[in-house]
Amino acid sequence: LSNPLLDDIEQVLLTEEQIQGKVKELGARISREYNGKELVVIGILKGALIFMSDLIRNMTIPIVMDFVAVSSYGAATKSSGAVRILKDLDWPIEGKHVLLVEDIIDTGLTLAYLIENLKARRPLSLKICTLLDKPSRREVDIRPDYNGFEIPDRFVVGYGLDYNEKYRNLPYVAVLKPEAYANCSGGLGKKTV
Ligand code: IMP
Ligand code: MG
Repeated sequence: LSNPLLDDIEQVLLTEEQIQGKVKELGARISREYNGKELVVIGILKGALIFMSDLIRNMTIPIVMDFVAVSSYGAATKSSGAVRILKDLDWPIEGKHVLLVEDIIDTGLTLAYLIENLKARRPLSLKICTLLDKPSRREVDIRPDYNGFEIPDRFVVGYGLDYNEKYRNLPYVAVLKPEAYANCSGGLGKKTV
């Protein structure tokens, strides 16, 4: 059966089984550490959608969900650090325990901006949970409190991560064939993370 999505994949970096195992572990650890507390889980749209939906189903504590959408201006595979909020939280977070969920921390510029922004709203606590970390690319000194996998400096797609909005629905994390990039116009423009 031909599958145009799979034809673009060069290499699977993290299998569905590896990801699901890790998400279970993270969900259990977070549940232990927030035992007896109520947690506001904030997903950064759209990249964190898949990770967050699996993560919260592996949590055994009461949570409420909220979402922010931010855009970064820059080329398709690089973040520029210029961040803008496209969709803000629905609810105040003052006095709440907050866990910010993101697909990947790369330069750290997106998260650094959001953390500053959210801290100003006086949450009781604010922690970061990322699926992937590319530490070699960091431009600001932030580290996730919870992270699934450290990966090398390669552009990856799948499990929520996109290239030009595509490939988010792959159940694993993969590297694309060079042709897959060539077929898409990257260029400068507004993109959501
Ligand atoms: P940062 O601001 O450089 O940390 O970039 C964070 C955002 O860039 C993430 O939320 C992703 O949307 C995007 N990003 C960074 N690296 C990758 C990647 O390898 N694949 C897909 N998106 C990425
Ligand atoms: Mg993205």
